[in-house]
Amino acid sequence: MKKLKVAVMISGRGSNMGSLARAAMDPDYPVEIVLVLSNKPNVEGLNLAQQHGLPIRVVDQTTFDSRDEHELAVTQALQEAGAELVCMAGYMRILEDAFVNEWRGRLINIHPSLLPSFTGLDTHARALERGVRIHGCSVHFVNNELDAGPIIAQAAVVVEPNDDESSLAARVLEAEHELYPRALKLIAEEKIRWTGDDSVRDNNATADDVALLK
Ligand code: GAR
Repeated sequence: MKKLKVAVMISGRGSNMGSLARAAMDPDYPVEIVLVLSNKPNVEGLNLAQQHGLPIRVVDQTTFDSRDEHELAVTQALQEAGAELVCMAGYMRILEDAFVNEWRGRLINIHPSLLPSFTGLDTHARALERGVRIHGCSVHFVNNELDAGPIIAQAAVVVEPNDDESSLAARVLEAEHELYPRALKLIAEEKIRWTGDDSVRDNNATADDVALLK
């Protein structure tokens, strides 16, 4: 089976990267993880990647004079690894246009809310404050606007009456770990296509493929 070569970009804990790594251990999963790249040294996710036997690379943002220079080095590292698609998994830095343009249509992200609601940070606290009954997470293509690119797949998580930020975050994270490998598989199998429009094109993807209800 020809596998899609994927790099994963992290900045911290790396639990979503771990869920992709576990999925990729299955010989039938159509993805090979060729690199785990972090913009920060010594983060937990790098240890986890090594435990999975994955190649790691740190492109430390503090050692570059500008964001563009840092992201050029990131692109170079991704290209050297042969990445055909890049998954951001808790990569906590807003990307410059040049980087997004370079990887357009080949760059995806997981975000802890049901987009287009709650873009940005502190999504769980804001969802609770706003009193939504259903929260969740989204996997989407990255474009030049923050958390606004075409949505690939979403998981809905019911907000419980006694939820606080951490209990809700934990259930959404569990959903993320199920959703991200699924969404990536859909792309690798070309069941979902990026077209450059505001939404993706479904190519035999079923509702069950793209919408998870927890
Ligand atoms: C995840 O919840 C991910 O959705 C979120 O950061 C967490 C990273 O956890 N990403 C964002 O908020 C991006 N805007 P992880 O490092 O354990 O995967």
